Amino acid sequence: GLVNTKEMFAKAIKGGYAIPAFNFNNMEQLQAIVKASVETKSPVILQVSKGARNYANQTLLRYMAQGAVEYAKELGCEHPQIVLHLDHGDSFELCKSCIDMGFSSVMIDGSHLPYEENVALTKKVVDYAHQFDVTVEGELGVLAGVEDEVSAEHHTYTDPEEVIDFATRTGCDSLAISIGTSHGAYKFKPEQCHVDPKTGRLVPPPLAFDVLDAVMEKLPGFPIVLHGSSSVPQEEVDTINKYGGKLDAAIGIPEEELRKAAKSAVCKINIDSDSRLAMTAAIREVFATKPAEFDPRKYLGPARDNMEKLYKHKIENVLGSAGKL
Ligand code: G3H
Ligand code: 13P
Ligand code: NA
Ligand code: ZN
Repeated sequence: GLVNTKEMFAKAIKGGYAIPAFNFNNMEQLQAIVKASVETKSPVILQVSKGARNYANQTLLRYMAQGAVEYAKELGCEHPQIVLHLDHGDSFELCKSCIDMGFSSVMIDGSHLPYEENVALTKKVVDYAHQFDVTVEGELGVLAGVEDEVSAEHHTYTDPEEVIDFATRTGCDSLAISIGTSHGAYKFKPEQCHVDPKTGRLVPPPLAFDVLDAVMEKLPGFPIVLHGSSSVPQEEVDTINKYGGKLDAAIGIPEEELRKAAKSAVCKINIDSDSRLAMTAAIREVFATKPAEFDPRKYLGPARDNMEKLYKHKIENVLGSAGKL
């Protein structure tokens, strides 16, 4: 069945790679994630946001994730390592409901709360979750942009001075930190970037690796999570814009920085936007080039193929989790 994150994080930290955490809310995303992870022999975290749960229905998502384990076996994987994780849980009740519904891992995101309230809420979720062997991700620091329907103008980097107290008092199994990533396809303003003379592309300012280093020094070997880690592939953005889309100056995290992070105690890297872009690009291309098609399989099929290619690329060339099953 589904597994929690404990063993896979311990192995990832020792092995210097990161587990992909891909969001899903529909069948094609799920199929592409499972196929990519089986074909690359990678463990994988399937994550469901509160919005995805509302969109797709909690019961359907639950059985889809359980079905993913069977599907992986059907594809030839003997012992799939698949986690079903709640992404950005915003209340004890939501986390409890997911735990009661068979999730193997949850995030309680109290990062926007005053510190002591974040500690208390996270501990409450941990105390409940651990009774059922469900692992819990907490968060310290605030990512710029929209998170949990709460929007922040600026990053508040994680304060390394708080992490020991937070991890000890809450008992959380992993910690999401803020070092300059953010959610969505617009992670940086063009004016924050410089132009790479070789490629002519915009290069964003680097992540705060000094903050990550300081956190790791305080909590040696503790599992760290990076949210907002889409790279916003320019090819997908170009395809979307070529076929009638309008994504202006979409900028993500350079893959080189994620590669570097994956080698450290960062053992979970969250990617959602890149999958959305891959899906949208493929669908737009079919709609524009084959306007007579109206069978959903004729555009959702190519969308699924394009996502599978993207997931494999992340696993093999960025996170380094290929062959780690
Ligand atoms: O953290 C955000 C994830 O990308 C999920 O986004 O709330 O739109 O499903 P969502
Ligand atoms: P992206 O928007 O960069 O894909 O981040 C996803 C995420 O952090 C989900 O929790
Ligand atoms: Na790692
Ligand atoms: Zn996130």
